[in-house]
Amino acid sequence: MRYIGTNIEIIANNHTISYTDEGPDNAPVIILTHGFPFNKSMWNKQIEVLIETYRVIAYDVRGHGNSTSGTDNFSIELFVNDLLDLMDALKIEKAMLCGLSMGGYIALNAVENFPKRFSALILCDTNCTADSPETREKRMKTIESIQENGLEQYANESLKNLFAPESFVTNKEKIEVVKEMIMETSVQSLSSTLIALSKRKETCTGLAKIRIPVLIVVGKEDQITPPDAALWMQKNIKGSILNIIEHAGHLSNIENSYDFNGQLRRFIASLYKRKTDHTN
Ligand code: MLT
Repeated sequence: MRYIGTNIEIIANNHTISYTDEGPDNAPVIILTHGFPFNKSMWNKQIEVLIETYRVIAYDVRGHGNSTSGTDNFSIELFVNDLLDLMDALKIEKAMLCGLSMGGYIALNAVENFPKRFSALILCDTNCTADSPETREKRMKTIESIQENGLEQYANESLKNLFAPESFVTNKEKIEVVKEMIMETSVQSLSSTLIALSKRKETCTGLAKIRIPVLIVVGKEDQITPPDAALWMQKNIKGSILNIIEHAGHLSNIENSYDFNGQLRRFIASLYKRKTDHTN
């Protein structure tokens, strides 16, 4: 039986996952995987429009939002197993997968290791590289700083890099919402996820093997995973499409949800048009 709504809880891979499941029964499924350190509510503006046509699943990654942390050490591989177990628990054999930043790291790893479970991939403000030694070092310093100076200072520092400069004038309310999301994440989860991110493996060498349709989206002012990284992935994924979102930094789906949604909807619609064309 399918439960429809938001903040539904299910036990998968030894922890409780909180997820949203909305949209028509039997419609194509799209799964939305959020970035760090946010939660599934970062997709609210996409969920609103996608549920007219698609079954949309947005879930809280382990230790974020309302999903519990469980007892395993966090890693991208663990997060991928959580996603696959969620799909199994919901009896979803195949889905389109959309991930932003950390969600993109999870999505790339999932598609590389479980290619048969995904029909399309949407990579938003993300990249395929592993952390450089400097970035790893920076993450360890961030853990110390969160423990010493608290969450609010961490949140304020993070916001400076997450948003395009103009968003601090035009998108003040959205910045406050993102700040709340960051502050709602526990120090323990932040630290465990920073370690997981620092240890993640690169997925660049696997890009050439991707055989499903891929859309890559990036905010023009993204300082964390800049347009150059997106362009590199686009050149290395056969047939992939790249769209640069104006007036947006790292959180392009929030900062310019209008353009982001337009790109997303056009891409998904083209997949189903293609299928209909083939069957006619
Ligand atoms: C994210 O938005 O998920 C993070 O910026 C990813 C990262 O720190 O590498």
